[in-house]
Amino acid sequence: MNYAPDGPTFVPAIWSRPYTDFDRKAFYKDERFRETTFLVQALRRSACYRRGTVQCATCHDPHPVDAGTYPVPLNFRDNPDELCLQCHSALRSKLTAHTHHAEASEGSRCVSCHMPRIVNALMFKARSHQIDDIPRTDLTERFGQDDSPNACLLCHQEKNPACVQAKLQSW
Ligand code: HEC
Ligand code: HEC
Ligand code: HEC
Ligand code: HEC
Repeated sequence: MNYAPDGPTFVPAIWSRPYTDFDRKAFYKDERFRETTFLVQALRRSACYRRGTVQCATCHDPHPVDAGTYPVPLNFRDNPDELCLQCHSALRSKLTAHTHHAEASEGSRCVSCHMPRIVNALMFKARSHQIDDIPRTDLTERFGQDDSPNACLLCHQEKNPACVQAKLQSW
């Protein structure tokens, strides 16, 4: 994450600031981050970082030729699942068995369930960067969708946690 191996670090001193310094509203009641301020910390919490080698540039292309028209440039822009499959290659051949949605459906994109749009940016909801996030219905049941948003329920708004849990169990 620090793009210079020596010298001053790119990521600022915010790392050593205790979370208790921040307003409680910066976090969901299930402890996930609610604000983009913590995008780096979210990534660092992920197993993909702790036990793997994930870096910002694993997914982001910092200097695309069309930067002006493509403000959040990703690698594999035509096939976003490759962001994950470059490491989780075992899932490449069993996509629908894992996702239980049609292959072309938004419900089959890795980021739809594992990087849901639950983080407040100024004008929109950004994707969580706790990239190993797994939809948990017990916490949504306990705190409600506003304080523990469940990825499935972001799309299936007419359903409830119990209904999602029943589906996950039968899968
Ligand atoms: C640079 C490699 C890499 C990339 C890219 C990557 N992961 Fe991972 N991921 C890992 C490693 C390593 C683990 C830990 C595996 C283990 O301990 O068995 C892991 C673990 C996970 C877990 C399981 C967490 C747990 O509690 O055991 C999930 C879910 C996950 N990754 C999802 C994703 C998704 C979704 C993406 C894309 C948005 C992604 N990963 C991208 C390397 C990666
Ligand atoms: C596993 C892949 C992956 C990794 C690793 C990753 N990102 Fe992202 N990032 C994404 C995706 C997917 C989006 C959403 C892009 C979109 O909606 O077009 C995104 C969006 C963003 C955004 C814009 C917010 C938004 O949703 O528009 C910022 C800023 C960002 N990432 C910064 C970072 C930084 C900094 C790092 C390293 C600490 C990082 N990302 C690591 C996949 C990743
Ligand atoms: C429809 C939602 C959904 C989508 C889409 C999805 N996952 Fe998952 N994923 C889950 C759920 C739920 C779990 C936890 C239960 C389980 O292990 O099956 C999980 C678990 C995982 C795990 C950890 C356990 C394991 O099976 O190895 C990894 C790694 C993972 N997903 C990666 C991915 C990748 C990579 C993609 C895209 C190719 C993806 N997921 C797409 C819902 C989804
Ligand atoms: C990004 C949006 C999105 C996410 C996230 C998502 N789905 Fe879906 N889901 C869809 C769409 C769209 C369909 C319609 C059929 C299709 O495209 O596969 C669907 C269809 C379904 C269906 C079959 C039709 C129905 O409504 O009974 C079930 C069951 C389902 N999803 C459950 C889940 C569960 C459980 C999760 C979380 C693990 C989940 N979905 C996550 C978009 C999503």
